[in-house]
Amino acid sequence: MTLDRKWIEAAIQAAQHAYAPYSSYQVGAALVTLDGTVFTGCNVENAAYPMCICAERTALVKAVSEGQRQFGVLVVATRDGGSPCGMCRQMLYEFAPELEVVIVDFTGHVHHQIALNQLLTLGFNAASLK
Ligand code: THU
Repeated sequence: MTLDRKWIEAAIQAAQHAYAPYSSYQVGAALVTLDGTVFTGCNVENAAYPMCICAERTALVKAVSEGQRQFGVLVVATRDGGSPCGMCRQMLYEFAPELEVVIVDFTGHVHHQIALNQLLTLGFNAASLK
């Protein structure tokens, strides 16, 4: 899919909703389905630290719970162009190994544009269980 600046803006906007009182590290995500629908997400932290959920998984769970399972692009926005954690890579890989991951900072500068199956090489999914 051709990168749309609107998706970058959506991810940056989503970071505004981050609930990150412990890390002060705000993350926004925009997950785009193959039909062009955009699901956004932010990180939501908790005083019980392991309960924290990342922006990427928030967006993914929102999308899947709305009946969407086919994804083309994920934009992740942070202050410094941070990249998705391993747990998020694995969760996304379940649905879209070829997902295009676009990593931006809050100015909209693109730090990386890379396929998920490169971020998570030799990933494990349903095909591995056949
Ligand atoms: N975080 C994300 O939202 N996505 C990632 O892929 C990396 C980390 C969040 C979790 C936590 O709220 C904060 O960033 C610091 O780890």
